Formats: sequence, C-alpha cells, structure tokens
Amino acid sequence: MISLLHKKILLGVTGGIAAYKAAELARLLRKQGAIVKVVMTDSAQTFITPLTFQALTGEQVHTRLLDPDAEAGMGHIELAKWADLVLVAPASANFLARLATGHADDLLTTLCLATEAIIAVAPAMNQAMWRNAATRHNCSVLAARGIRIWGPAVGEQACGDVGAGRMLEPADITQQVADFFEPDVLSGKTVVVTAGPTREPLDPVRYISNHSSGKMGYALAVAARDAGAHVILISGPTSLPDPPGVKTVRVETAQQMLTHSLETARSADIFIAAAAVVDYAPMQVSAQKIKKEDHQELQLSLKKNPDIVAAVAAQTPRPFVVGFAAETENLLLHAKNKLSRKNLDIVIANDVSDTTIGFNSDRNAVWIVDANGETAYPEQDKGQLAKVLVRDIAKRLEQRNSKASRGN
Ligand code: PMT
Repeated sequence: MISLLHKKILLGVTGGIAAYKAAELARLLRKQGAIVKVVMTDSAQTFITPLTFQALTGEQVHTRLLDPDAEAGMGHIELAKWADLVLVAPASANFLARLATGHADDLLTTLCLATEAIIAVAPAMNQAMWRNAATRHNCSVLAARGIRIWGPAVGEQACGDVGAGRMLEPADITQQVADFFEPDVLSGKTVVVTAGPTREPLDPVRYISNHSSGKMGYALAVAARDAGAHVILISGPTSLPDPPGVKTVRVETAQQMLTHSLETARSADIFIAAAAVVDYAPMQVSAQKIKKEDHQELQLSLKKNPDIVAAVAAQTPRPFVVGFAAETENLLLHAKNKLSRKNLDIVIANDVSDTTIGFNSDRNAVWIVDANGETAYPEQDKGQLAKVLVRDIAKRLEQRNSKASRGN
C-alpha cells in the first residue's frame, strides 16, 4: 500500500497520444491521497480536455500563462511555489527540448523555470524520436540538472513501431512518485558501488574483458543516491554517463579497481560489488602491438586477479559488504559458496545464462542470499529493482548496527 497523503503534485500534460493516460495517472495519484493540480499545454488540449482533469482532480485546470483570472488566484509563480513535485506526463520530445533550453513561453515551461521543487518527466514519443541524438542530448542535459527521467517503457507504440518511447504505465509512474517521497533511508551513509567490466590489457590495442554494461551497478548507485547516501561509483569502462550527484571514479583494470575500492571502503557504510571483474589478467603486457605475422599460434599465460570484494570484506572495520554472483548453472549453490568463501554479508545472485536479463540488459531478476536462506526478486527494470535492493540493504545495515550497539 503506497500513500501520498497531502502531497502536492503539479501534473503537467503535454501533447501526445499518451495524454489520455495522464487522466488515469491523475486518478491514481488522487486515490493515494495526493492533491493534484493540472497544467496543460495547448497541444495537450487537442488530445484531451481540461474538463476531464477538473472532474478527476476536483481542481481548476491551468492552461494559460497570462490569464487575468489565474493571476488573481493561482498564477505561475504561486503554482511553482505550491508544488512538492512537478511531474510532466506525458513529456513530449518538444517539451523536453524546451525544458532543456530554458524556454518560458507557456505556463508549463515558465513554472518549471520558476519552481524550486524537483521536476520529474515521463517521456512519451516515437522510438526514433527517443533515439535521436538531439533527444539524447536534451535528456542528458536535464539529468545533469537533477531532473528525474522516469521511463520510457519499451513496447508497441500507437504508430505501430516497436521500441523505447512509450510512456510508463500510470501505475508505474504512481509508484515512482511514491518512491520519490519515501524517507531517505540512507541519509548520512556512504555507499561505494563497483560497476561495469574491467579490461586487462594484452598489448596497447587488445584486452580481455566481458559483456558487463554497467547498467546494474549504475542503477544501484542512483538508487543509493536517491535514498540520501553519499555515493562513490567505481566504474570500469562503460558507455554510460556519470550519474549526476554521484562521485564517479573511472578505472580500467582490476588492480586499479582494487586500489580505489580499498581506499574508499575504509570510510564506507556499504560496499556493493556489482562489477564483473575479469578473473584472470595476462602475465605480461606487450609494450608494442603483438604482430600476427610473428605468431601462427599464440599461447597466453594468465594470472589470477585480486578478489576485490573479498579484500574489502577482510578489512577491519569493514562496511556492510554486498557481493554479486553471476552464474550460468546451480545459481543458489554457487551464490551460497561465494557468501561464505568471500565472507560477505549478502550475495545478490543472477542467472547470466538468460540473455533477457543480467549482462547488458535493461532488466534483471535476482535472489538475495544470506546466512539464513534466500529471497527471490522477480524480473523487472534494473532501475526499479535497484530501488528495492537498496531498501533491503538499508534495512539489513540498520539491523546489523542496532545489534552491534546492543553488544550481540
Ligand atoms: O553490468 P550489466 O550489463 O548491467 O550486468 C550486470 C551484471 C550481470 C554484471 C551484475 O548483475 C553482476 O552479476 N555482477 C557481478 C559479476 C561477477 O563478476 O560475478 P562473479 O560471480 O564472477 O563474482 C562474484 C563477486 O565477486 C561479484 O560481486 C564480483 O564483483 C566480485 N569479484 C569477482 C572477481 C574479482 N576478482 N573481484 C571481485 O570483487
């Protein structure tokens, strides 16, 4: 059961076929106890009428920037100050562009400039428009400014295309709003997350690595940040941008990841090892490119890399240490072995033989394994899963700390 009792949500609706779903969103937010005021752009009104939102929210719907009636009652500055959260759903490509460039030529863009509340957007557009470099750039500008981007979802679109661009379902957006208002369960805590692959060089142009994209680790870093933690992300090479509000340290090799992990984990409360560290590195790194003309066959000698998460867990004092287990068979058995062999507090186990989850996918399904057993977390978006995992980890840390302070 989620509750948004008395939360003041300014719902911005822009023009797009998903505008009709904003009516259901307004209804769900109201059902959870929120006060919802709706601002519509001109093009939103070609898809759905203000009257629909007025009936659903019990509030006057705002449509014009320069409205003498509204200015006497609730003009753009008052609306901007009133909101606990400005939520724009659906957010069209045009709206994202105007928000990114600081336009103030209608009520919605103007109050977005004027508000000190957090702004969240739920993009909805054709998949090619979502993938377009201009939209990608606008989203990274908005994310860097602290604007929350919820979605979009992947699936069949109104135009018949299939891909990323659908607005998240109203129930999912309502859940995001509820998560947003959750108390900061990691306030005052420091969390270190490792993410992505490592690269172990063979020569100046070649390396050994794996399929990790960093998505799972980055999602955990963002979820820990959103839960109020100071987050240090130690990332192997990925194509993901540094998450805003997270201190990101870029490394290449396992040895570099180890050095930064040991250094930062010393003062951390939680250490989460989501990185897919390459287990073996070449014994020798050739200073020059290995020439294929010189070798009909090439034998590589490899040495075992240091085990980073085990080294962190061996420190005294140590943070709450979370390892991952990426397995292709006997998932829980291997996860339990890792738990005890590496002396971890919990292991998050995922089946990487399934290509729809795990490596390089947007989704994952995991088990949390601890000394008492295991709990399943069903397949979901990595961002959503990370939130659930972070909440679980925060609860366990609190239990461990209160046990320690009681002296048992
Ligand atoms: O990055 P994505 O594309 O989103 O994919 C996510 C993921 C599959 C990489 C992630 O969910 C995951 O499972 N990460 C751990 C991958 C891994 O290397 O698992 P492992 O079972 O080989 O290692 C067990 C644990 O020891 C892991 O926490 C790992 O970070 C750690 N380890 C392993 C080797 C090593 N030398 N040092 C380590 O710290």
